[in-house]
Amino acid sequence: MDRDCFLLKYEYAIRQVQRALGEIAERQEEAGVHKSIAFVTSRIKTAESTAEKLKRKGKPVTIKAAEKHLNDIAGVCAVCCFQEDVYAVAHELETGGKLEILKKKDFIRKPKSSGYRSLHLIVELGTGLGGAGDRVRVEIQIRTVAMDAWARLDHELRYKKGQKDVELICRDLQKCADTIASADREMQRIRKKIRNAKFK
Ligand code: GTP
Ligand code: MG
Repeated sequence: MDRDCFLLKYEYAIRQVQRALGEIAERQEEAGVHKSIAFVTSRIKTAESTAEKLKRKGKPVTIKAAEKHLNDIAGVCAVCCFQEDVYAVAHELETGGKLEILKKKDFIRKPKSSGYRSLHLIVELGTGLGGAGDRVRVEIQIRTVAMDAWARLDHELRYKKGQKDVELICRDLQKCADTIASADREMQRIRKKIRNAKFK
């Protein structure tokens, strides 16, 4: 399979995930309830980053190996305002029947040592091409707006080679992740309070 065909397949898979997320928003709009998703982004892993990850895992740098060993060739990120929205989106995807959920990782309940927080779903879906390579996986990351801003900043640091004071910046970022998590929880609490309040 050449890279063009490979990309087409993953682009199609991303569109299917975007559609599933769009349908959640539509259903909520029709029901007149709060919309869980603020915005959605997506990306296909670059050839360089794919090769680097395969080498890191000790695998051959081939399309076949990438399809077999990597879950994040296609990535979609759903960004929400509140923490409970993150779990609501995951629940909708899990029960929607459109996507097969292969794996769920809750880095909100169990943050990474970096401070990274997000809910990850690895899903699999058919691309209609038939044959062995028909089904592909997509990594869906679901997180709050604040967690998303944090992940972007952290990502910037990770890809900046030769940055001075890396350890110090990492520690600052860790602290920031904790502050963000507690602000997210507090926002959640206040939101509940506002909703349950009886106004005269
Ligand atoms: P990666 O090689 O990092 O993709 O690891 P993995 O394939 O074992 O998966 P894992 O579930 O650990 O992480 C998957 C993805 O989550 C990564 O590709 C990143 O997009 C994101 N991620 C995980 N940890 C961090 C982190 O510390 N900072 C940021 N910014 N993103 C992270
Ligand atoms: Mg990755």
